[in-house]
Amino acid sequence: MQTTPRRVTIHSLRQMKQKGERIAMLTAYDATFARLLDESGADVLLVGDSLGMVVQGHETTLPVTLDEMAYHCRAVVRGTRRAHVVGDMPFMSYQASIEQAMTNAGKLMKEGGCHSVKLEGGAVHAELVRKLVSAGIPVMGHIGLTPQSYHQLGGFKVQGRDAGGRERLLEDALALEDAGCYAIVLEAIPADIAKDITAALSVPTIGIGAGTACDGQVLVSYDMLGMDETFKPRFVRRYATLGATIKDAVAHYVDDVRTGAFPSDAESFTVTENKATPNAIDPALYSTAAKK
Ligand code: KIV
Repeated sequence: MQTTPRRVTIHSLRQMKQKGERIAMLTAYDATFARLLDESGADVLLVGDSLGMVVQGHETTLPVTLDEMAYHCRAVVRGTRRAHVVGDMPFMSYQASIEQAMTNAGKLMKEGGCHSVKLEGGAVHAELVRKLVSAGIPVMGHIGLTPQSYHQLGGFKVQGRDAGGRERLLEDALALEDAGCYAIVLEAIPADIAKDITAALSVPTIGIGAGTACDGQVLVSYDMLGMDETFKPRFVRRYATLGATIKDAVAHYVDDVRTGAFPSDAESFTVTENKATPNAIDPALYSTAAKK
């Protein structure tokens, strides 16, 4: 009998840090990918607003809406059984006021079904984090390169290299932990700063372009799977080249259709196979067994 795996929680993530077990986090945007990542052991799936870039084709994450995030969260949650699912709060869904942020985070939890929310920024959001946590909404922080501040930062740039950068990042991380964040993403910061922050916090740090010392790592799944052959920043390791694999498969299919090699008789139906109810759709046609 297949048993349902125990869901990863914010508490199990903290225990992982205490035991020195690394946390594997990836982004997911739909149910099929979520199922594959979940079944492969990813502990945390982030429905990142990076979907604005890799799914919607925008240049930045700024255009993504709360409704779009809720839609993708629902799909991802449906695809998982074990992973903890985090919903990203999109640009301007939490910056204008605490009231607006509370309503929007609630919407992501209620309509999106995610298990926690993530928001970008440090000490400036401490009061908001405190309110969300006291309302029962677990919050993951995100400091360093915060893509929603793309225009303010002048592009996607490594953070914390300027004078005072180390102190500011450490202060932000401590303020978020103190406010109740259960984990903090450190994006694109020097490895030694990430190491100091990780040692100073009791909650896990999840690095992306932040070196080896973080308690966990996150990558955009499309990047680590090599969906875009033209995109390979230094901090990404490609574990597959799916972009090339998909293009090869599709070119093969196109060729087969054009030459008439697909479909074959084995992939077609005959009248005699369904004599009793000739117009009925075979109930087995779309069953799980028929899919294989
Ligand atoms: O939106 C996203 O995918 C993220 C990760 C890069 C951490 O915020």
